[in-house]
Amino acid sequence: MHTSIHGQWSSRLAFILAATGSAVGLGNIWRFPYITGENGGGAFVLVYLACVFLIGLPVMMAEVMLGRKGRHSPINTMSILARENQRSQIWQLIGWSGVIAGFIILSYYSVIAGWALAYIPRLAMGTFSAVSDLGSTQAVAEFAGGQFGALIGDYQQLIIWHTLFMMGTMVIISGGVQGGLEKAVTFMMPALFALLLILLGYALSTDKFIDGLLFLFQPDFSRALTGQAILDALGQAFFTLSLGMGAIMIYGAYLPKDASISFTTTMIVIADTSVALIAGLVIFPLVFSNGLEAAGGAGLAFQTLPIAFGQMPYGAFFGTLFFVLLSLAAWSSAISIIEPAVAWLVETDKFSRLSASLLCGLGAWLLGFVTIFSFNIWAEVYPLASFGVEKTWFDLLEYLTFNMMMPLGGLFMAIFVAWFMNTATTSEELNSSPNSFGFKLWLFLLRYVTPVGVGIVFLNAVGVLKAIGIVS
Ligand code: TRP
Repeated sequence: MHTSIHGQWSSRLAFILAATGSAVGLGNIWRFPYITGENGGGAFVLVYLACVFLIGLPVMMAEVMLGRKGRHSPINTMSILARENQRSQIWQLIGWSGVIAGFIILSYYSVIAGWALAYIPRLAMGTFSAVSDLGSTQAVAEFAGGQFGALIGDYQQLIIWHTLFMMGTMVIISGGVQGGLEKAVTFMMPALFALLLILLGYALSTDKFIDGLLFLFQPDFSRALTGQAILDALGQAFFTLSLGMGAIMIYGAYLPKDASISFTTTMIVIADTSVALIAGLVIFPLVFSNGLEAAGGAGLAFQTLPIAFGQMPYGAFFGTLFFVLLSLAAWSSAISIIEPAVAWLVETDKFSRLSASLLCGLGAWLLGFVTIFSFNIWAEVYPLASFGVEKTWFDLLEYLTFNMMMPLGGLFMAIFVAWFMNTATTSEELNSSPNSFGFKLWLFLLRYVTPVGVGIVFLNAVGVLKAIGIVS
């Protein structure tokens, strides 16, 4: 039995809240609606839900289990478990990939969280109340688009907000498990959820609610989903559940021994999925009632929600509160993104928790400039142009983590747990008999469904499927 030097959650509920805090973030409110819009709605949502429940949930159970068995940072956990199961030390690479992915993800996550921060004063000052006097929906859409464009085009503003967000993340992370992480998440999640419900009430009052509902839930099978859309759905499932890079593993390392893994992870997945779906139910009616494009891209949430706040009673108040909570949700996710790296540095015995946090924060902060400039002065810079790839630096970082490091990490965790650990150990850790239906289903999903599903994502990411003509 290992114990964690970093401390432990005080209860099962604390773990659920912390892991939900990690899962619920920009992925749900910013990314889910925009990627769903770009992929045409209904059918995409269906595939996404299948990925969440058939691959995401089993992988999350596996990842939490690895963490709780190893009780160390992902690098050392994988090393310990590989040794205990008489497997090669090469499995440590899962941990290394997670630490590196954490730096990269945090660097751009912080920039986008900075957008949420930047909207707080805009709503508080009533910038968007102007939209109710604009008359035509087109003028409203242009106003909202203009505001967003002005923000991302101005790197000085982006640097300020990115810096603020990163400093906030470092403050919490340096406080450790119970002092920092746990306190921060206990009130944030319920508050965000309540505010989303208020927004849902507003969306219900628009005349386009049904259109939004149908867009999300009525699959249009006449338009076949592209291979790329399916891959987007899988990548989104990993991202929104924080899987595949050790964040959930390290949170599992702080999980008390007697808490049920299957129960807690199911709760987390349900909470995360509800937030994403509600965000969609809020955003799409607004998109349609204001004549915006569902496929409007990365600015979708930032262009639609302020319009709602501009038109509803007490909008400046609710709007300010909403972007405060979105920033907080991003904050509780950001913490988990970098925790594997911080925990590892602490385990080397060369760093205190404070110095480890500062070092990681500084690294991710510096790398964040690459993302900031990708939206303005480097917007036309395509580093891999000579290979025919038209992607900015930000696109490349997102691609590397989303399409490669996270799915691969999740894939190898699934393989390790399902093929390289014995079922006596895993079933005991899950508190179930190796012959029960639930356990067998879980093992089947991990052994076969996950490797095939994720394998396809990865082959696509490295271009193999393109080369042999399966996707265009
Ligand atoms: N799940 C978070 C979101 O939806 C982002 C996140 C937190 C994350 N921790 C992670 C993504 C670890 C990948 C890996 O916003």
